Amino acid sequence: MDSHRQENLLLRKFLLAGIFVAIVISIVLAALHNSAWNVPEEAKQRKNPLPRSAAALQAAAAAYRDKCAQCHGAAGQGDGSEARLHDPPPASFADAVRMNAVSDGELFYKITTGRRPMPSFRTRLTEEQRWQLVLLIRSFAPQSPAPETPPATGKQPAPESHPGATSPR
Ligand code: HEC
Repeated sequence: MDSHRQENLLLRKFLLAGIFVAIVISIVLAALHNSAWNVPEEAKQRKNPLPRSAAALQAAAAAYRDKCAQCHGAAGQGDGSEARLHDPPPASFADAVRMNAVSDGELFYKITTGRRPMPSFRTRLTEEQRWQLVLLIRSFAPQSPAPETPPATGKQPAPESHPGATSPR
């Protein structure tokens, strides 16, 4: 038995397997990179439970400055200080055509889940804060119509608890 040869063969097999795995991974990454950001239909249909109000916009503005502006820009134009470091670049919320094409539910979903390089805000922001941000983001595109909001009845889902006294009331 030529154990040296056997070792060589094994090594080659490992190498081939490694190359194969690397190729598959890069194909998958390339596909993910260019793919559309798929949002489940159910999530798209969700309506913003919050009516547009000065208080909601003000609360959102604080969260936005703190957590979003470095990428999306102070006025939502996708030109934050960190924007150039990212690929794909941060979305511009000032683009009315783009903004008219997405529903509130879709924006909420994207803020919730994030997608590389954008972080997920599922645990960093409460549900209420994320809906407030949807209201704010809408205000960056001047031509976009007022978001559809149901009349403010008492039917709002129970807001999540607020850790810390961040939301001014
Ligand atoms: C690290 C940079 C970064 C931060 C911080 C960030 N985003 Fe993003 N965001 C992105 C990038 C990049 C995209 C585009 C991702 C893509 O298309 O795959 C994006 C996309 C989005 C979209 C989808 C827009 C569309 O038209 O599909 C929304 C909504 C959004 N961000 C909201 C927010 C909000 C709100 C915050 C703060 C709570 C935030 N982002 C923080 C980088 C960031």
